[in-house]
Amino acid sequence: MLHTNLSVGENGHLYFANVDTVSLAEKYGTPLMLLDEDRIRARMRTYITAMEKHFGEGSKPLLASKALCFKGIYKIAADEGMCTDIVSPGELYTAKAGGFPMENAYFHGNNKTDVDIEFAIDSGIGYFIVDNREEFDKISSYSAEKGIKQKILVRLSPGIDPHTHAKISTGSVDSKFGTAIETGQAEEFIAYILNDKNTELCGYHCHVGSQIFESEPFCDAADIMMEFSAMIGKKYGFYAKTINLGGGFGVPYTEKDPKIDYEEKIAEVASHIKNASKKLGIDIPQILMEPGRSIVADSGMTLYTVGTVKSITGYKSYVSIDGGMPDNPRYALYNSEYTFLIANKANAEKDMTATIAGRCCESGDLLGENIPIQTPERGDILAVLVTGAYNYSMASNYNKLPRPPIVAIKGGEDRVVVRRETYEDLARLDV
Ligand code: LLP
Repeated sequence: MLHTNLSVGENGHLYFANVDTVSLAEKYGTPLMLLDEDRIRARMRTYITAMEKHFGEGSKPLLASKALCFKGIYKIAADEGMCTDIVSPGELYTAKAGGFPMENAYFHGNNKTDVDIEFAIDSGIGYFIVDNREEFDKISSYSAEKGIKQKILVRLSPGIDPHTHAKISTGSVDSKFGTAIETGQAEEFIAYILNDKNTELCGYHCHVGSQIFESEPFCDAADIMMEFSAMIGKKYGFYAKTINLGGGFGVPYTEKDPKIDYEEKIAEVASHIKNASKKLGIDIPQILMEPGRSIVADSGMTLYTVGTVKSITGYKSYVSIDGGMPDNPRYALYNSEYTFLIANKANAEKDMTATIAGRCCESGDLLGENIPIQTPERGDILAVLVTGAYNYSMASNYNKLPRPPIVAIKGGEDRVVVRRETYEDLARLDV
């Protein structure tokens, strides 16, 4: 099986986190999102332990909220000792409502509004990751008004192409994110910030991209950031205490994807950074990372009920399910590949090739094409694996379809952590 939290029971059903998925589908209805809470916690601990061990004390991971955001995930993160990054006032609000300590939250985004900045400072946000001068000026003036010295990191673009999907690569110079090192604008910006009295510059941030399986792009980014830090240190006397390398380690979605050992990758980046600091003659900074996908993706699964099975003579077969692009827009957006199986026939051979279609009034509403699958019938349960990241958080109500509930499994016990939307919920904002 693709991941260790998957197995097939004697009844031929797919088990997830040691629970029969077919009985969960019966109990909660479909579409249904499942979360393996034990695995999420274990993955958080892997990052926390490996970062402290290899980068040194004080280095730590921040959960990238954008991958999966609901109140309960912040309780889990806080319990395990993770920090978090948030990119919007809505994520900030959810973290706060979930009881997350705001001093451990880092506020990202390329266009924070004045209202966002005031909300974050009033909420006691730990750090801003400053993208641009306009927002910096607002952070500074509002901090002065409130009589505080706001801690900040500055987002830089290191100019790296990590060979991932163009839409999820964000570290290149021509990007809406951050300030470019290559053009000299980053130096100018830092010099400007160092003259400010209302903020405390702690260091630099970069993010190269997502779904990366190798350590090289992170090592390359670290080199550029540390060279920049050394240069600023020599010229202006400011040596960054912190370097945040962003998110990005990959997760296998299908058997074709490489397997990845997160601790090993972290150790590789750490040994690279140690050498680089020696070469540059600067202290090893506190390293932060912002994993999202690699914390939650393989702890998630979505279950659907199969409806229509349509074979078009001379063409192909469509298997339609009771969800689709509203709960998982990733195939429509990025052609993302997934692994599918019929949960109540998990032992049977995958004897059919099908296009998996959603129920929206839109031809592009597909979850996959040329998918090997056990021949399904109406009423069967279709499982889509590895849907924990960027599925629920990107879900919409297109065609007025209610979003599925999220059921978390911990120690073999299941519980609802996000309830299913009702039709009333769908109309609740209409006046
Ligand atoms: N930090 C920053 C600044 C980011 O922009 C991202 C992701 C992360 C951390 C977390 O990266 P991760 O560890 O999850 O790779 N919606 C796309 C992914 C977009 C990623 C955007 N930034 C998808 O569904 O694949």
